[in-house]
Amino acid sequence: MADIETTLIEERSFDPNEAFAKDANLSPGEYTELISAADQDYENFWADLARKELQWTTDFEHTLEWSPPFSKWFVGGKLNMSVQCLDQHLKSWRRNKAAIIWEGEPGDQVTLTYAQLHAEVCKFSNAMESLGIQAGDRVALYMPMIPELAIAVLACARIGAPHSVIFGGFAPKAIRDRVEDAQCKLIITADGGWRRGEVLALKANVDEALDSGCPSVEHVVVVERTENPVRWREDRDIWWHELVDQQSTRHDPKAFDSEHPLFILYTSGTTGLPKGVVHATAGYALWTKLTSKWVFDLKDEDTYWCTADIGWITGHSYIIYGPLQNGATTMMYEGAPNYPAEDRYWDICERHGVSIFYTAPTAIRAFMKWGDAHPMSHDLSSIRLLGTVGEPINPEAWMWYRTVIGKDRCPIVDTWWQTETGGMMIAPIPGVTTTVPGSATAPLPGIDAAVVDADGMEVENGKGGFLVIRKPWPSMLRNVWGDPERFQSTYYGKYEGVYFAGDGARRDEKGNFWIMGRIDDVINVSGHRLGTMEIESALVSHPNICEAAVVARPDDLKGQAIVAFVTLISGDADSKMKEELQTHVANEIGAIAKPAEIRFTDALPKTRSGKIMRRLLTDIAAGREVGDTTTLEDASILRRLKSDDDE
Ligand code: PRX
Repeated sequence: MADIETTLIEERSFDPNEAFAKDANLSPGEYTELISAADQDYENFWADLARKELQWTTDFEHTLEWSPPFSKWFVGGKLNMSVQCLDQHLKSWRRNKAAIIWEGEPGDQVTLTYAQLHAEVCKFSNAMESLGIQAGDRVALYMPMIPELAIAVLACARIGAPHSVIFGGFAPKAIRDRVEDAQCKLIITADGGWRRGEVLALKANVDEALDSGCPSVEHVVVVERTENPVRWREDRDIWWHELVDQQSTRHDPKAFDSEHPLFILYTSGTTGLPKGVVHATAGYALWTKLTSKWVFDLKDEDTYWCTADIGWITGHSYIIYGPLQNGATTMMYEGAPNYPAEDRYWDICERHGVSIFYTAPTAIRAFMKWGDAHPMSHDLSSIRLLGTVGEPINPEAWMWYRTVIGKDRCPIVDTWWQTETGGMMIAPIPGVTTTVPGSATAPLPGIDAAVVDADGMEVENGKGGFLVIRKPWPSMLRNVWGDPERFQSTYYGKYEGVYFAGDGARRDEKGNFWIMGRIDDVINVSGHRLGTMEIESALVSHPNICEAAVVARPDDLKGQAIVAFVTLISGDADSKMKEELQTHVANEIGAIAKPAEIRFTDALPKTRSGKIMRRLLTDIAAGREVGDTTTLEDASILRRLKSDDDE
C-alpha cells in the first residue's frame, strides 16, 4: 500500500520551474543556509533576520524570553509598524509606486501610491488622536473592503491603538461580543458595502450592537460608501470625510515596544465565545515580511492579489502588513467573485496585470464548477505564481489550478497557517521546493513543526497524528485577550512547552506534511473558521429549541457544511421551522454560520455521563457507518436518528 502511495506521489510531484528558480528570491543554497542557521543557533538566526529586515528606532537587547506559553521577542527594541509599511518607502523611488490598487464591486477604482497612502494614514492617525484615542486603546473596525479599511488599520498601528477587525459578514450580536470583550473605545464602519449588487447595511448592524450594549464605545466613525440612509446619533457618530477633512498629512510616529500589542483578532474555538488572539508588533512584522518575500517571491515589479477579506488573518498578514513592508503593490477588491459574472476575478487579473494570485481552495472549487470558459476568456499570462490557504486543497482542485489558471507554468504554494501563528508556517518555497498536489510540503526555515502521538512522541512517516510546533516563533500569538488561562490550556495544555495547533496531519515518505483538518470542534466552511459551540449557543437561544448539537459533514464545494441536530421544546418540526432556525443563526452570528441542514430529533445520543456523542452524529451527517456505540446511553435514539436519515 505504502509503495503504491509513494509511486502516485512521485508521479504527481513538480520540481521548481527552472525559469522561475533562476530569478527567485530564495535559491536552494540560500534556503539550505537558512535551515542550518536556524538549526545551529535558533536565537541568533532570528536576531540576525530582525536586525536586517526591520527599521529599529531602538535596537533590542535580547532575542527571546520564553516562559511557556508566554513569549517575548526582540526585548527592549522599539519600532513603529506603519513606518515599516509606509515611511521607509518614502525615502526611495517607491514613494510614487502604487501601494494599493483598489477596485469596488460596482467597478470604481482607486490607486494610492505609497506617498498618498502615507498621507491618508497620517490624516486618520491625527483624526483618531483628536477623538482622544491613545496608544493601547482598542479600536474596532467593521468595514467593507474599501481603501479606508487599510488606512484605518495602518493608522491604528501608527498610533499604537490595537485594532480589532470584525468581518463585515458578522451579525450585531457577534459585533457586540467582540467589542465588549476588548472594551473598544471607537468603532469605524461604513454606511454600507457592495456585495452582489446589494448594499450590506453595516452601520445599521453597528447601531443594533450598540443599542444592546458596548458602553465602552465613545464614537462611531462612518465612511460614506453606498449612500444608503443611516440612523444618526449626533453625540456619537461622525462622518469619516468630515473628520479627516481638516487633518494634517503629517504625523510624527512614536516608536513602540517590540511587544506592544498590534492587534486583536477574534477566532472561533471550542467554546461558545470566540477567542481574541493577540499579536505583538515586532515579531509579527518580521515574519509577515519574510514569508511574503520567501513564499510569494514578492518583487518590486509584481502586482500581488490576495482575495481574502481583511476581516480574517489572511487579509491582515497578506493584503496589508506583509506586502506593504516589502514595498509591493497590493490589490484590494470589494465584492463577490461572481459579480456581475463568474469571470470577475479573471477580469481583474487581466486588467490589472496581476502576477501573484492567492486564494482559498473553496474559491478554486467554485471556479471549477463555474467552468473553464471563464478563465479561458481572459489573458492570464501576467500570473507567475499561485497560492492557496485556509483549508486542505484536494489534489483535483490543485491540478485544475495549475493547469487552467497557471498554464502548467506557475508554481503553486499551498500555505498552512492559522490566526494564531500570524504568518505562514508550512509552505513551499517556489524556486526550491518540489510540490505535491494536496500537500503544504515543509515547515519554513525557523519553524519546528512535527506530527506527534497522544504522548507527544513524533510518529513515523505515513502515520497520522497531531500537528505541533515545538519551538516558539516570532509571530506566534502572545495571549488570548483577557484570558491567559484559556491561552495556556488551548495551545500549551496538551504538551509541555509545545504549541498544539488543533489540526491532524501526517507526513509522507518524503517527509512532506499533509494537513488532515481540525481535530477539535472547529468547523471550516469555505475557509472560514467556526466553532460548533458558537452555533449551538445561537440555536439554543431560540425560544423553540431545547438542545442542539452541531457537526460538520464533507462538502464538495465548501470543504465542510454545517449540520445541526436540534430538539424542539415547542413548535412544529417542519420546513418553516428549519428556515426560521437558519435565519436565527444568521442573525445571531452571520450568514456564514447558517446550517446547511437542520435535523429534528426527540433526543441526542449521549454517553451515560450526559456528554453528546458528536462522533456518532458526524457519522450520521456524513452518511457513514456509525462507529463504536458501546458508551451510548440509549441505543434507541441512534436507531431513530438513522431511520430519519433513511427517509
Ligand atoms: O485547519 C487549518 C486550516 O485553517 C485553520 C486555521 O484557520 P484560521 O485561523 O481561520 O486561518 C486561516 C488562514 C490562515 C487551520 O488550523 N488551514 C489553513 N491553511 C491550510 C489549512 N488546512 C490545510 N491546508 C492549508 N494550507
